[in-house]
Amino acid sequence: MDATSLRRAIARTRLAPVAAFPKRLVSVARHDAKVLRTSARWLVTSREHHNYTYDLTKLSRQHLAWFVSVVCDVPVKQVRGYLAEVESDEPLRRHIEQTTASAARRGLADRHVRYARRIGWYAIVRATRPAHVVETGVDKGLGSCVLASALLRNADEGHPGRLTALDINPEAGYLVRDGRWSEVVDLVIGDSIASIGALDRPVDLFLHDSDHSREHERREFEAVEPKLAPGGILLTDNVTTTNVLAEHAERTGRRFLAYRETPAEHWYRGDGIGVAW
Ligand SMILES: C[S@@+](CC[C@H](N)C(=O)[O-])C[C@H]1O[C@@H](n2cnc3c(N)ncnc32)[C@H](O)[C@@H]1O
Repeated sequence: MDATSLRRAIARTRLAPVAAFPKRLVSVARHDAKVLRTSARWLVTSREHHNYTYDLTKLSRQHLAWFVSVVCDVPVKQVRGYLAEVESDEPLRRHIEQTTASAARRGLADRHVRYARRIGWYAIVRATRPAHVVETGVDKGLGSCVLASALLRNADEGHPGRLTALDINPEAGYLVRDGRWSEVVDLVIGDSIASIGALDRPVDLFLHDSDHSREHERREFEAVEPKLAPGGILLTDNVTTTNVLAEHAERTGRRFLAYRETPAEHWYRGDGIGVAW
């Protein structure tokens, strides 16, 4: 009996789990060793303690381009152009690097700029050219900067727009407090539900990225619903954790899609983009 026939014969006996154990052990040990190596490298090279930044894997970036293409109904080639545009925007990158280096909380931020799924937010703004974008949850202002950068490019092409960026933390948004990006950003400090209620202009694109509890996310979508412009698009950063936006889409007769990002060289499993339109 050759080795293959022997393996097949054992697989049909009660000894099969014992025989397979060494192979299973090697598989899981290889995987865990890789996670440990990545985690150890991150512990010594990064300063971040939440809202981690990373690049996307090549495949994840390709899927993101198709996701935006389907949602915005524009050719994928055009979307790839938008992704490349933000990634190669040197003034934006320099602004983030330099502002981070001199920020009071620089001890908890990485200087190296990595946008992750935010390049998808950028492409959606470039493809849909909204007049008014609302982002809840600003933190340092990385997403706000990326959104502002898309709005500035749209303005150059004759489609101006503004970003209302909402955060409860008075120290949030240091990346969008100066520079040309700040010119299209209205930073509002306070609880997002109250700030959404006070919005006095129709919202074309809304992004939930604040308190990620299911209840708060649900309340934000309910609060923004009467403020939406016709055809307004809803995004959530919470799509890998809750089904809130999908449920909201079903209640309000919208379509829904979810994209799950894959970070490159990072222990964090990544977030995603949920969209209802
Ligand atoms: C995940 S971070 C936002 C990340 C940001 N959008 C980005 O692209 O990097 C979450 C932010 O939500 C803010 N936040 C938490 N609860 C909030 C609330 N009730 N209203 C407004 N902002 C809130 C926090 O202060 C924090 O800055």
